[in-house]
Amino acid sequence: MTKNKVRVGIVGAGGIAYVHEAGYSELDDLCQIVAVCDINEAVARDRAAPYQARVYTDYKALIADADVDMVDVVVPHRWHYPVALAALEQGKHVLVEKPMAMTPEQALHLITTAQDRGVTFTVAENTPFVAAYVEVERLLRANALGDIRFVSTTIAGSEVARIKSGTSWVGSPENQGVLLDSGVHSFYLMRWLFGGVRDVQAFAYKVIPESQVDDHAITIGHLANGAVFETTQSCIVEAPWTERLEVHGSLGSLIVDHLANPTVVHFKGPDDVEGTPVTEVAYEPLAWKYFSIVAEVQDFVRAILEGRPPRIDPYYGYHAIQVAEAAYASIAQGKAVSL
Ligand SMILES: NC(=O)c1ccc[n+]([C@@H]2O[C@H](COP(=O)([O-])OP(=O)(O)OC[C@H]3O[C@@H](n4cnc5c(N)ncnc54)[C@H](O)[C@@H]3O)[C@@H](O)[C@H]2O)c1
Repeated sequence: MTKNKVRVGIVGAGGIAYVHEAGYSELDDLCQIVAVCDINEAVARDRAAPYQARVYTDYKALIADADVDMVDVVVPHRWHYPVALAALEQGKHVLVEKPMAMTPEQALHLITTAQDRGVTFTVAENTPFVAAYVEVERLLRANALGDIRFVSTTIAGSEVARIKSGTSWVGSPENQGVLLDSGVHSFYLMRWLFGGVRDVQAFAYKVIPESQVDDHAITIGHLANGAVFETTQSCIVEAPWTERLEVHGSLGSLIVDHLANPTVVHFKGPDDVEGTPVTEVAYEPLAWKYFSIVAEVQDFVRAILEGRPPRIDPYYGYHAIQVAEAAYASIAQGKAVSL
């Protein structure tokens, strides 16, 4: 590192990498994008230009660059493990997009490799930076809902164009379906707020004729405290990408809906028909996700500089993949699977 600045190399300059770039650019006193790699050279050149960053088309060359301190892995799922592992083995700090890897074994290997090398590592999981969920966490800690009985999450939007194109990694068998893609966000949330998932039974569907893998999935089961949960992941919904969370306890309920205004409402029992809007959370249907990803990236840079763990717990990301794997096993076996 030079003058307390983290020198960042980005591998994969696609859609979500723009948001990562925004996070680094806003923090230009603490970090600098020095290298960009994409297998599409024109894309890599275009995206490196604003930062006068070096251009690579082979991730191994970027990782070998001695002037890169941290590698941000923003490629399709199946590349997360090999790229992150190679970077960790080279002694780089690594932030890897979700899912951390394709299997729990790979995820654990990344975590232990980072520990062995003494570098900072985690998955780019924006969930713990979403303002609405941070407020839910505060209310849960204050025991505002009592004993938790039922948790429901939905993540929905449209990947229909990418699936129909037949050229995207989205919906391709080697990168798996929406259950892994979006499910890891919900499963991370269940680990973070409710101690994790104990067992699952899942159901997967291919609604779009061109889909080769699940484009709609429902997972039900029990959380660590015995509460029941259900979660829906869908990429066939022609509405803005959004998330919804319902938490129901013995003293009331919290409903989070990022397309609704107010976005978070607290109901204090069956007679509380209107509920109380949680005004600490703003209605930001387009920006909530952007802000959470920017915050996630910036926390990682600060974690490196401050020598502390990132706020995202990589073991929670590992748990998320364990749950996704168990859910796919349950689909294959047609019965509930315990973790
Ligand atoms: N945290 C979130 O909410 C969130 C949102 C969107 C995407 N993501 C994750 O980010 C990742 C990328 O998604 P995206 O939508 O930006 O995809 P994308 O298709 O827009 O971009 C991927 C880029 O990676 C490049 N690429 C592919 N293989 C490569 C390789 N081996 N080496 C170098 N470059 C390579 C492609 O050319 C492309 O430019 C996915 O894993 C996805 O799950 C996370």
